[in-house]
Amino acid sequence: MSHDAQQAFGLPGTSKAADASASDRPVSEVATLRLEAGIAEIVVDAPPVNALGQVVRDALITMVRWCDAEPAIGAILLRCAGRTFFAGADIREFGKPPLAPSLPDVVNEIEACGKPVIAAIHGTALGGGLEVALACHYRVAVGTARMGFPEVKLGMLPGAGGTQRLPRLVPMEEALKLMTSGAQIGAAEAASIGLVDLVVYGDLRTAAFSAAQKMARSAEPPLRTSHRHDVLAKARTDPGMFDRFLEANAKRFRGLDAPAAIVAAARAAVDRPQEEGFALERSLFVSLRDGGQAAALRHVFFAEREAAKIPGLPADVQGRTIDAVGIVGAGTMGSGIAINFLLAGLPVVLVDTDEAALDRGLSHISRTMEQGVSQGRIDSVNGEKAVALLSSSLDFAALAEADLLIEAAYETMDVKCDIFSRLDAVARSGAVLATNTSYLDVDKIAAVTKRPQDVLGLHFFSPANVMKLLEIVRAEKTADDVLATAIAVAKRIGKVPVVAGVAYGFIGNRMLHVRRKAVENLLLAGVDLYRIDAVVEAFGMPMGPFRMYDLAGLDLGWSKVASTGATIQERLCERNRRGQKTNAGYYDYDDKRRPSPSQFVRDLIREFVAERGAPPMTLSDDQIRERLLFPMINEGYRILDEGKAFRASDIDTVWINGYAWPARTGGPMYYGEQLGLDHIISSLEGMGLADTIASGLRSAVRSAFRVT
Ligand code: 3HC
Repeated sequence: MSHDAQQAFGLPGTSKAADASASDRPVSEVATLRLEAGIAEIVVDAPPVNALGQVVRDALITMVRWCDAEPAIGAILLRCAGRTFFAGADIREFGKPPLAPSLPDVVNEIEACGKPVIAAIHGTALGGGLEVALACHYRVAVGTARMGFPEVKLGMLPGAGGTQRLPRLVPMEEALKLMTSGAQIGAAEAASIGLVDLVVYGDLRTAAFSAAQKMARSAEPPLRTSHRHDVLAKARTDPGMFDRFLEANAKRFRGLDAPAAIVAAARAAVDRPQEEGFALERSLFVSLRDGGQAAALRHVFFAEREAAKIPGLPADVQGRTIDAVGIVGAGTMGSGIAINFLLAGLPVVLVDTDEAALDRGLSHISRTMEQGVSQGRIDSVNGEKAVALLSSSLDFAALAEADLLIEAAYETMDVKCDIFSRLDAVARSGAVLATNTSYLDVDKIAAVTKRPQDVLGLHFFSPANVMKLLEIVRAEKTADDVLATAIAVAKRIGKVPVVAGVAYGFIGNRMLHVRRKAVENLLLAGVDLYRIDAVVEAFGMPMGPFRMYDLAGLDLGWSKVASTGATIQERLCERNRRGQKTNAGYYDYDDKRRPSPSQFVRDLIREFVAERGAPPMTLSDDQIRERLLFPMINEGYRILDEGKAFRASDIDTVWINGYAWPARTGGPMYYGEQLGLDHIISSLEGMGLADTIASGLRSAVRSAFRVT
């Protein structure tokens, strides 16, 4: 405890009893306890995010108990130092033996305190952190604070009374939405639904302190949230709401354990006695926390954060300053990339030498902004500010002032090299030059400039303003500070960065290419195309490969004149089945773009396979899945063998954030480990792929079985 805090207990006005007990007041390395004018102020300071680990829990329970017993204290003000209120339970403790006191015990103790406890919220009050706030008797939030229950994203439910207390404060439908989406809401919205009592736009501590003083004067004992029934009473009038909610969200919840458990716990708040509701929440929480989905999702959480750390990068490397961005190429990709920077408050100049393409790009950007505002995804003020930051030109000279230049042009080496030599001529010294290539050799592109140390790949994923992944391709000569700049830029625009080495397709597309081959092999083995999509979708990907091909367009790189009908895709294009855009591809599409299987395509494929004379195979769904996924996992190990990714978890991060691989399985590499790498090797051998097996995969199996 600081000298200040210790002195506070000797303040005039504190009673003899306070003085007498000052010697036994609790001290902690993560919290201070100060007394001022009858108010005890507990300030927790556990960087970086005030997670509720054992030491914090212990400090909280001890200090609250002490304050409760201390007659001189009229109310308790609970707040956090640093960038945020409690960001939740300490995720690193899950999967290990529990340490007392448990979070529910701490939270219950706060709620049961005979003195009113006032939470002063800033930053992000998340998960267990918000549950602490719910147990307090009054919640004051600063206007910029955000709140949410991210447990569902970790495969769990709010397990410190959140499922029981939240619907006692906010309407049940809002409570279900918050807990099953994991989304954060701002302070104003939180106040409008009853989650916080007061929003302040001035000094948080001052406002919370005066609220505490006011409550300290009240003769009434503080009202416990779990004793409130008025809001719950409304939910009791509509018992059918829970089933309707589950039904309406069935697609979103598919394959996930946590959402149904959240709804079951919330339902118990309505139709069971209070203690039973809390007990059910606890048992559901423990079984989810100890289950496979939660373990996988914890892996995903830490993998994403690890991916931003570059081994070997000196700690003192400073990124370059990026205040203005130039983008070359106004197509869907270039304009999607621009939106990211505009929304992050960075001026963007969009350059394209084709005037019509530039106009299309500009209208794509303004349309996307308008839609974002009308659908509530973009704040209208931010949307307006963002559009005002955009300029455009037909001339490369407009790029001269940009600190970061991103080329998003047609995917051929000639086009890219031409653009980079022009960028080299106009860009200011020290500017970072990036290519958005998805496959090409970034070293070759860098070599056409006189500054290869400033060049790297920034591979965005389509739609570029939506997909979270940014693959950062480190070329042979990329300077350390350029790499550090790219990581910082990714975070600034809300992307998850992963560093890859130069290789055909880097990490993600290289593995996608392997899956494409696996899909072709399955077709040649006589497996129905729609069954392949069904297996992939049942695994949890939002789209099977054929639906994905249709969406992307089958005619990428295809020309009628050069077409030889050598592939199924070429034959489909020759019949003007080019995907969704022609209402026909592998699927038929109705006017609402709903797909249905096509007998014509089935016959075309059967004919193609017959020409190849491949022997048909009878495969179960499990075998089909293995034939699609195991070669990809093997390719992941080959990428590691070649040093093109730093760690297996980076590959998981790529697939989850760039290709919507189901996060609940932890990503391809984690999934492979859980299945058993020995099983993967024997399956690959059974598929005739023994020669391709990565040495890292074989040695990972050997080390897994090594007795130490
Ligand atoms: N437990 C342990 N470590 C945590 C943590 C947590 N809850 N939240 C963040 N961290 C760590 C990160 O791993 C990272 O560590 P590192 O620097 O060693 O890599 C560091 O804190 C900083 O985190 P970020 O890089 O994510 O920092 P940001 O500023 O970008 O984001 C944040 C801050 C919004 C708080 C974000 O970290 C976050 O969303 N955290 C997770 C919140 C969460 O899921 N809480 C619920 C936990 S489950 C729970 O509460 C169960 C309860 O119901 C019983």
